[in-house]
Amino acid sequence: MTLKEELNITIIGGGYVGLSLACMLSSNNAVKVLDIDAAKVDMINRHISPLAEKGIRDWFRTDAALRLLATTDQDEAFADADIVFIAVPTDFDESRSAFDTTHVEKTIENLIEYNDRMPEKPDPIIVIKSTIPIGFTAGMRSKTGCRRLLFAPEFLREGKALEDSLSPSRIIIGADKDDPDQMQDAQKVLQVIKRCCVSSDCPTLIVNSSDAEAIKLFSNTYLALRVAFFNELDSLAESAGLNARDIIDGMGTDPRIGYYYNNPSFGYGGYCLPKDTRQLHSHYADVPEKLFTAVVESNDTRLDFIADQILRKAEQLREQSAAPEEFRIGIYRLNMKSGSDNFRQSATTEVVKRLACKGYTIEVYEPLLGDGFEGDLPGCTIQKDLDQLKSSCGIIVANRFEPCLEDVKDKLYTRDLFHNN
Ligand SMILES: NC(=O)c1ccc[n+]([C@@H]2O[C@H](COP(=O)([O-])OP(=O)(O)OC[C@H]3O[C@@H](n4cnc5c(N)ncnc54)[C@H](O)[C@@H]3O)[C@@H](O)[C@H]2O)c1
Repeated sequence: MTLKEELNITIIGGGYVGLSLACMLSSNNAVKVLDIDAAKVDMINRHISPLAEKGIRDWFRTDAALRLLATTDQDEAFADADIVFIAVPTDFDESRSAFDTTHVEKTIENLIEYNDRMPEKPDPIIVIKSTIPIGFTAGMRSKTGCRRLLFAPEFLREGKALEDSLSPSRIIIGADKDDPDQMQDAQKVLQVIKRCCVSSDCPTLIVNSSDAEAIKLFSNTYLALRVAFFNELDSLAESAGLNARDIIDGMGTDPRIGYYYNNPSFGYGGYCLPKDTRQLHSHYADVPEKLFTAVVESNDTRLDFIADQILRKAEQLREQSAAPEEFRIGIYRLNMKSGSDNFRQSATTEVVKRLACKGYTIEVYEPLLGDGFEGDLPGCTIQKDLDQLKSSCGIIVANRFEPCLEDVKDKLYTRDLFHNN
């Protein structure tokens, strides 16, 4: 199938997933973004990026941004849509031990209701991009009778959402493989995405939607497992006086292990890994497993360990300082990765919460806080001046090292051994 015409595409939810998809698809299509956040909609329509991520900000400075339209009005967003992508949040609901899929369900119901009101208009293909439980898409097809419903998992690295949309590692579409109409829809969506990519040679796969949902959850859980593995390796190395860097270097030379995604950190975090691992774990309620429980629990163990190590080092430095009563802990940045503006479920924030209840005065340097970004930092002072943080704090804690910390190396606590993300 080769697509020639420009399509009308609507994207519901203008966050990291929705907005990077909108930027990418608008090169060949007329794209509208529907969001409930009026301030965000206003910024998009004034061609200003509502996200601080560099790639998206740079894109908004180009003429391409003039083509993108945003609205809070559902009917305006749904009118004329050939394809609708859903990229709304699916937070983890601890009380139910499962994703809260309310926003996705409501959006599908609203779309069906709109289609019923407009019988002369052909129904659009609906593609869920939000991460959802295994079986969700098939369940929604049976519940609503909507057959034009697909799932296409999104795979974005933090800080590189637009880059990864334009050059995806793979494109996977979940459909009902026994339904020829759905397979045709899936092929169409594949082509729509592919023709907007920078290079069109990435692997593509059409699978049953439940398998596509499982691919997403298993992929993120594997990444969390890998982070947890190298972090626990590092915990032993730090405790036993081993050289974690040399150990990881030595392991990575085995091509089956590989030299990538192996840099220790305070823990895995971000919006997706903590919730996606929990969701996958919940699917094992009646199936024997040990590993997925361990992946979920290992992160808390690592965060506790890191907080203890910081407190140990802080106590040593405090005893050596000229004015122990004025000793402060300084936190350098809350983001998970250099170049990201995303603090959601950040491992540093989790460590700060553990330190905050130990009686120390804590200063946090995070230049993006206060510019519309929220932190969750009880009992901490926000420091906007890095030089001030360096001079007033007896220990500086950084999940990720940056060259501006070179002059405080003697009082720095980090486990960023390779200085990469
Ligand atoms: N962030 C990632 O890297 C990533 C990667 C893969 C998958 N996902 C999944 O994609 C989904 C969205 O993630 P995100 O990071 O883009 O979230 P986000 O919080 O950055 O953005 C969600 C957007 O949806 C809007 N919104 C909320 N409810 C809405 C509604 N009912 N109608 C219209 N707009 C609504 C919000 O205002 C916000 O702008 C989640 O399910 C997430 O798990 C995220």
